[in-house]
This record gives sequence, C-alpha cells and structure tokens, in this order.
Amino acid sequence: MKILFATSEAHPLIKTGGLADVSGSLPNALADLKHKVRLVLPAYQSVMDKLPEKKAYKKVAEFSVSGCDRVYQVKILQVKVGAVAGVDVPVWLVDIPELFDRPGNPYLAADGSDWWDNGERFGVFSKVITELSMNRVGIKWQPDVVHLNDWQTGLVPALLSLEKTPPKSIFTIHNMAYPGNFPKSLFEALNLPWSLWNKEGVEFWGHFSMLKAGLIKADWVTTVSPTYATQICHPELAYGFEGVLQDRAAEGRLKGILNGIDSQVWNPLTDELIVKNYSVKKGRLTGKQANKEALLSDLCLYRGESEKKSDKRLANCIDKPLIGLVGRLVEQKGIDLVLEVIPELIEQSNANFVIVGTGDKFYENQITQMAKQYPGRIWVFIGYSESLAHRVEAGADMFLMPSRFEPCGLNQMYSLAYGTLPIVHHTGGLADTVVNATESNIKNGLATGFVFYDPSRHALKSTLLHALHLFDKKRTWQKIQKTGMEQSFDWKASAQEYVSLYTEKN
Ligand code: ADP
Ligand code: GLC
Repeated sequence: MKILFATSEAHPLIKTGGLADVSGSLPNALADLKHKVRLVLPAYQSVMDKLPEKKAYKKVAEFSVSGCDRVYQVKILQVKVGAVAGVDVPVWLVDIPELFDRPGNPYLAADGSDWWDNGERFGVFSKVITELSMNRVGIKWQPDVVHLNDWQTGLVPALLSLEKTPPKSIFTIHNMAYPGNFPKSLFEALNLPWSLWNKEGVEFWGHFSMLKAGLIKADWVTTVSPTYATQICHPELAYGFEGVLQDRAAEGRLKGILNGIDSQVWNPLTDELIVKNYSVKKGRLTGKQANKEALLSDLCLYRGESEKKSDKRLANCIDKPLIGLVGRLVEQKGIDLVLEVIPELIEQSNANFVIVGTGDKFYENQITQMAKQYPGRIWVFIGYSESLAHRVEAGADMFLMPSRFEPCGLNQMYSLAYGTLPIVHHTGGLADTVVNATESNIKNGLATGFVFYDPSRHALKSTLLHALHLFDKKRTWQKIQKTGMEQSFDWKASAQEYVSLYTEKN
C-alpha cells in the first residue's frame, strides 16, 4: 500500500512535542510492515539547517498554489533515505520560503505568540498535501491512503471530499485543545469552495475550523489512545465538538489507537544520550543508579557551584528520591498542581525535584522562583533539551505527569521503559498505560506506577506520599520497576491497527 503521512513536525527533523515523536516513528513502523510511505512536512528553516548537505535532497516537483489573495510557488524537496539518521522513509519537504523559511518554532514567533499567518501557512500546506494526494504534481506517486495529523492538516479531508476518486483519508487527533479556529475572512481569502461552508463542513459557530474539517470529512478519525476517544465524546474535553464526535462514533468511524514508542530512540539499553546503559535483564538495575549520580552531578554543576560544594550536595542527595518532570509547561500538564504541592513536599519529605520544560511564561517564572527558594532541592531547566530529557528519564526515580487531560502522553511510557515509576492522573493515554500500585496489583505483579483519580492537589500529594513511602521498600520498588520495564509499547501492534483501518472498506 502507498501511504502519504502528513504532519507539521517529525523527530529528528523538527520537534515541539509528542506529535513529532509519533510522526518520526510511525512511518518507519509502517515501512517495516512493507508499505511504501512518504512523510510530508513543511521545509521550515530549522529543518533545512539540519540537512547535512545540499546533496541530501533533490527537487522532485514545482508548481503553484493559491494562498490569501496571492499565489505561491511551491517546491517539493525529496530527502534521501539515510540522509538523516532515524528517518527510514523518503521525506517530502514543502518549500514555500515566504511561509516556512523563518527561524525558531514552527508555530510561534519569538515573543511566544502564534505566527500571525498560521491560518494561511497551514491552509496552504493542506492545499499542497491535497495536490500530492491526487497525484497532480508530476511525481507519479498515487497514495492509497493519506494519513493526516491535527488541525494543521485538517483541511485535507475536506478538500479531498470534493474530488471524484480521492484516496482514503485518516485523520488522527493528537490534541483537541488546538482547534485551528480562524475567522471566516480566512476561508474567503484562501478562496475555498463555498460548498464547504456549512454545519456539515468547516463552519464552526461562524468561524472557520480546520480541526472540524478533519473530524467531519475524514473517512476515519482516530485518537492516540482508546480512553481519549471516549472522553472527547463528552463536553468536558470536546471543546464544543462533542456532537460531531458522537456522530462519528455512532457511524463506527472514531477509533482510539494507542501510540507506540520508538525503541531505537527511547531504550535504556542502547540510549547514547545517557552515561550508562542498562536493562531489566541485568536484574538489579545498577546502571540506573550511575545515571542518577551523573544527572545529579550535572545539575549541581549547572547551578554554577564549585566542584567541592557540588560533591557534598551530591553525597547528600544520591539516596534521596529524585522526582523528574519533562514537558510543556502549560495548563494541560497540571503544572499548577505541581506548583502547589512541591513546597509542602519539600517541607514534609526528603524528595528532590528536577523540572525541564518550556511553555507559559507564568509557569516558567513560578517554577524558576521556586527553585531559587529551595536551592539543592529543586533543579529547573527552562528550555528545550533532548539530551536532558533522556538523562532525566534515566536518572530520576519517579516521573511526574499529573496532566489534567492527556490524549496519549509518551513520557509515561518512556518512564516505564527506563524503570522510572510514573505518577499520573487517570486520564486519556495515562489511564491506558499505567497500572496503579495498589496492594493487590503489587501482589499480582501488575503494578507499574502510581495513579490518582481526581486532578486536585490533595490527590496528587497523597499519591506522591504513597510513592515516597514505597520508595523505601526496595524490593517492592524493584518489582514495580521490573514490571514496568517489561511492558511492550513498541509500534508493532499499533502500526498493525492503523494498517487494518487503511485497508478497511469505506
Ligand atoms: P505533548 O506532545 O503533549 O507535549 P507527550 O508526552 O506526548 O506530550 O510528548 C512530549 C515529548 O516532548 C516527549 O518526547 C518529551 O520528552 C518532549 N519534551 C517536552 N518538553 C521538552 C523539553 N523542554 N526538552 C526536551 N524534550 C521535551
Ligand atoms: C499531543 C498530546 C499527547 C500525545 C502527543 C502524540 O501533543 O498532548 O498526549 O502523546 O500528541 O500523539
């Protein structure tokens, strides 16, 4: 089967979050199943900078597409397989310099606000994907299936619905919190067909929603975990789309498929970003302790302390529980709850914290302030660091993920693989992947982490205290670590589920 996989980010070319991890690994897993896959994404400036040399890609098509009251010249640059390590399928970069050749984040300007023309950027990107889907640009590659991801590609199923013989479309929701809502004037300026402007199309309470276009017009809609597929049919997490989603579910067109993880990238046995590789097979997980030591000593030095002083601190904290958090510092991730419980835990327990993330300036400032208030107990890195993310997974004892909602979540799965017990709120993919350490689950060898059921500071705090209590019971702790590390979250089963959908009759 020929599969065109369209996304706005893909690791290792460009990443802001889990969408990149999925887009960087699911296409490879589909290729392993002997399907022909093309990965298409915008030729952002930072993607072009990552390409080793000019010879890494070649122009395979050039055509024009209309934007907002103007026409863009589009080049499709095909990146050779093997040119970028970890990318096992040919990549098509959509090169429109006026829209994508900008520094920094794919969605945000330097001041943290959305790029002013995101609607046009991804509207045009979707038009280009549609042309590729219809094999109209002279590449001679007709996909059987087009797999779209999130609102940035949401317009594609709507545009394909206007074609006589379109390929099948799958639209995957990674996060309903980003609806791609724009004013009606954008719909007009993009010169889109009026037949799409209605309740059964892209119109959403007078606005133009690219998310709705995908939800309503794709042949199949998927979410990145089974629990999230159920949750988004209820108003609390549907952002007004519950009606549309309930209809799709009633037609049997909404399905939850759990994300996999890339076991080439996130595997403690082979991870090149950590100081000592380890695995569950070796029994006592001694390698993990070496990673904790290395992480703590890096953190002490990072704070600008002298080596002598940092050695002393290190000796002080090596046996104390270290709780890690890596993620976007936004409301979704329950950062407010974390900010509320940390001071109490610092006063009442011997736990230390390491937090890595970027996001809302408000949270960034609060967390930085807190780290100043408790030197040697909390370390904070405000920024994006792939290597630190790996070192925290390997070096921390527990991983905090108290998300208010979580479509899937990848870090809790990485944590399980690294023997770092996740502490999670029972929602979305977190509920589907972590088994709570109750007495009976521990006894039956099922427990893999800690789950709380109400997103409140009290529930989070008592769960953390329970985890800290078990941390002192080394044999029980190791049993839970081992169970977690033995879970299999690789892509095989989930990629197969996608293939079943691709081949299902429309
Ligand atoms: P989301 O996609 O909602 O941000 P996920 O758990 O699915 O959440 O995926 C987040 C991914 O982004 C993980 O690979 C995580 O390690 C990574 N990540 C998030 N913030 C940072 C950061 N500041 N530095 C490095 N990696 C980060
Ligand atoms: C989104 C979600 C996250 C999910 C990721 C990849 O960013 O917030 O839960 O794991 O997409 O699907």
